[in-house]
Amino acid sequence: ILGSEKKKSLSGKKVLVTAGPTYENIDPVRFIGNYSSGKMGFAIAEELATRGAEVSLIAGPVSLNARNSLINRTDVVSANEMDQVCQEIFPDCDAAVFAAAVSDYAPENKSEDKIKRSSDNISLQLRPNPDVAARAGIIKKKGQITVGFALETNNEEVNAAKKVQTKNFDFIVLNSPNNEGEGFMTDTNRISIIHRDHKKENFPLKSKQEVACDIVNVLEQKLLS
Ligand code: CTP
Ligand code: CA
Repeated sequence: ILGSEKKKSLSGKKVLVTAGPTYENIDPVRFIGNYSSGKMGFAIAEELATRGAEVSLIAGPVSLNARNSLINRTDVVSANEMDQVCQEIFPDCDAAVFAAAVSDYAPENKSEDKIKRSSDNISLQLRPNPDVAARAGIIKKKGQITVGFALETNNEEVNAAKKVQTKNFDFIVLNSPNNEGEGFMTDTNRISIIHRDHKKENFPLKSKQEVACDIVNVLEQKLLS
């Protein structure tokens, strides 16, 4: 048997990955967004596919390409679109990794025409967006594994542990934007993983490729046990 024909560890598994920011339109030329590059989610999608998983990558607006042919990419813009696609795809998946930086709010009303400048203050009414991960957590079935991300500036562990419960995750990946080389727009990340039973694993500062490998190791162990 040739090495390339060897069955890969995640062959036959279907995994949903969300990645990147969402954009919430204000008018035809403006939006509310964030600085997420999508690199972490794309690195996880590549790592999963390298191990043979069939990946549904739901990507917000990013300038990245998925290389592996096992990655089936759907591009979305807003949180609502991301939520619709996830609700459709998640029931058929063995696992989901919610790496997207979903905008928490969107403008209540989108202006049809470009908003004109004036010398007056203006205000923008915002309404809450759907919580994509939490809504998947509600329809989650026994055996499905879900993974969240948290980027906290204070009370990191307590806040992250709360999200594990409220969003029904199996574990959450915590990274802090306080330290250089971590979080948005960088090529490196220092993470901790917090499990449902509050068990915590700390990892050293690594490239996002290597971090993706660590995260997929933990996911794989849960998927195959
Ligand atoms: N998430 C999501 N949909 C949202 C908000 C968050 O799917 N509308 C997911 C993220 O992809 C991440 C996890 O939930 O995996 C935690 O995101 P975070 O922004 O830290 O959580 P929030 O519940 O939005 O709490 P916060 O008030 O701290 O922003
Ligand atoms: Ca949020």
